[in-house]
Amino acid sequence: MTALLIRHPRILLPDGEFLLGDILIEQGKIVQVSPEITAEDSTLIMDARGLTLLPGVIDPQVHFREPGLEYKEDLFTATCACAKGGVTSFLEMPNTRPLTTTQAALEQKLQLAAEKCLVNYGFFIGATPENLPDLLTANPACGIKIFMGSSHGALLVSQAGEIEPIFAQGDRLIAVHAEDQARILQRRQEFKGIHDPAIHSQIQDETVALNATKLALSLSQKYQRRLHILHLSTGIEAEFLRENKPSWVTAEVTPQHLLLNTESYEKIGTLAQMNPPLRSPENNQILWQALLDGVIDFIATDHAPHTLEEKSKEYPNTPSGMPGVETSLPLMLTQAMTGKCSIAQVSHWMSTAPAEAYKIPNKGLIKPGYDADLVLVDLDNYRPVLREELQTKCGWSPFEGWELTGWPAITIVGGNIVYERGKLNTDVRGKALSFEQ
Ligand code: DOR
Repeated sequence: MTALLIRHPRILLPDGEFLLGDILIEQGKIVQVSPEITAEDSTLIMDARGLTLLPGVIDPQVHFREPGLEYKEDLFTATCACAKGGVTSFLEMPNTRPLTTTQAALEQKLQLAAEKCLVNYGFFIGATPENLPDLLTANPACGIKIFMGSSHGALLVSQAGEIEPIFAQGDRLIAVHAEDQARILQRRQEFKGIHDPAIHSQIQDETVALNATKLALSLSQKYQRRLHILHLSTGIEAEFLRENKPSWVTAEVTPQHLLLNTESYEKIGTLAQMNPPLRSPENNQILWQALLDGVIDFIATDHAPHTLEEKSKEYPNTPSGMPGVETSLPLMLTQAMTGKCSIAQVSHWMSTAPAEAYKIPNKGLIKPGYDADLVLVDLDNYRPVLREELQTKCGWSPFEGWELTGWPAITIVGGNIVYERGKLNTDVRGKALSFEQ
């Protein structure tokens, strides 16, 4: 592998400051970051003047649909979308077919990922009411995923009596989709016959989310168990966490829960339908504040593609979920450019903090010895999200038409250029992530 010297980008350093300098990459690792580096003869030189160099994004919650649901997305198309979006590593959820609830299913996914993924990959093991032995031993897994609500079949673990034994045994990270399934079922009956998708946010209301978050938190406190709360959606949960979050608990928020809200149903209908649902504009504001204050630790997209055909059915026969990996970084950087937050904060929430939370060694910072998973973004120009440019197989985005800056110009995975100005290098393959205990 030839060495790569990136010349003159604005480099985000671990302390949040920027250096206008050079960065040298050898054998997939960052070896030097300095104001000026002299190249050897064989070194490939890239002129990155005018671009900003950030650590590659680690998206810690995605649904990439393979195996079993490849008509929606697959590991190749999803990771083409990642490369275009500056996402160099992802953690993927177990609701594929077969469900990722056994060592064999986990190994099948790892095998498929090694063949097809353009970026680095890690997978959750999914909890069922019966697979505690698998949860204790599955390896390598980034954590245990519990769907407390909004799931069905074996992956639904909604009763406190089923959830508690999972918290009581073992010590690996538990990530929860926190929604109260009993309340969802009851409210579905109450609102039966209403086909306006906006009713989704009322059926799966704020109390649905709060009840489950409180239950997960109380079990985490009882057993001092490492807990991560996925896609926090409400202000009341954020305020509850502000008062009650122990040091060993983390929480994430999605760009759509920060930037879209119940007004979005009018504009994009069922494309705005997801679980947990979008909330009011006031909730957007409280979630933003919680993120800025560190109550919410990082950002995930919950990339959950469904076909336009599925989404064009009548509510409630439409599936919940929206894609996100190729828009998340420009969405957040555009917010930074409006002054809502800093670029260093965006990078902390999208790279450094997920690497720390999941104990992924040598990722999430631009530092000698760290893996060369990097993204060069253009913060000078604004371009709209265009359907025809999307790489995700589902072929739509809830953010179509949004004018964004911070689009990746070049994405690098393990020292290899995987995306450069509109062109993917589909020969690049990512690696399996490792997770320290
Ligand atoms: O809206 C959602 N869709 N939320 C989830 O957590 C699951 C996802 C899916 O897999 O479609």
